[in-house]
Amino acid sequence: MKDSALRKRTIDPEQIGMETYRNVKQADYTKEAEVYDLKRFSHVAGRFYAELSNQVIFDLLEAKEGDRILDLATGTGRVSVGMAEKGVSIFGADLTWKMIERAKEKASEKRLTNVSFHLADGLQLPYKENTFDKIVSIRFFHILPFEMQKAILQEVRRVLKPGGTFIVEFNSPFAGLFLWALRRDHLVIWPRQVRELFQGMAIVKKVGVMLPGLGRIAKVNPQLGYALGRRLDFFPFNHLCNQILIVARKDEEASVKAA
Ligand SMILES: C[S@@+](CC[C@H](N)C(=O)[O-])C[C@H]1O[C@@H](n2cnc3c(N)ncnc32)[C@H](O)[C@@H]1O
Repeated sequence: MKDSALRKRTIDPEQIGMETYRNVKQADYTKEAEVYDLKRFSHVAGRFYAELSNQVIFDLLEAKEGDRILDLATGTGRVSVGMAEKGVSIFGADLTWKMIERAKEKASEKRLTNVSFHLADGLQLPYKENTFDKIVSIRFFHILPFEMQKAILQEVRRVLKPGGTFIVEFNSPFAGLFLWALRRDHLVIWPRQVRELFQGMAIVKKVGVMLPGLGRIAKVNPQLGYALGRRLDFFPFNHLCNQILIVARKDEEASVKAA
């Protein structure tokens, strides 16, 4: 099957194998790197989402002095750079060198010394067992087929310390009254998949990020928009948001096996 065919949204990624799917994504993001931020986060709604989600992630991280924190699939470093600007020391890892180049440029423009970037494949992370206190992964899992989400989660569990926290963003199937779920080009996560994916981890919280309509509220009254956006951590409003952050903790006694 040709790469161009694989990129068609109609092709079921479960059918083509994880390595091929990963390579297609790497090629896609190599092309996208120059315009990635511009296309997504330069307009009013995109800027609001980016700032709000960084604030929510910062609150959830509860970063402490000395914490080792990984931003998995950092892309152009949007979250890593945002966290570093707030004083958090963080490592950003991504599969696509062009995306990392943009991330490095952003960090050096801002003269940040508390962030560094690595080339890494989520399917085979280049870190030892029990390395990180916290791992965050934003706008990543929704581009992956479920089998690949499971494989990457196994790697996350391996490199996370016992008691460590994983904060991961998904698209919610319940957002905008099921509109996401009807769109074939966005993978959503259903509750039964959450249970399967996070076996061996405790789900601590489910926090919504963008409630449909919140952007409009923020346009009229930014303070109110941010204040509401930081309080979407309760049922059912968390599930009604476009994006849902799952905060999961690795068991303290979890035995760690190399993948
Ligand atoms: C939609 S971007 C998200 C970037 C960033 N986290 C953000 O929120 O803007 C998805 C990123 O996942 C990366 N990626 C895709 N497959 C990967 C893999 N197997 N391991 C690590 N990163 C991967 C891509 O290179 C791309 O930078």
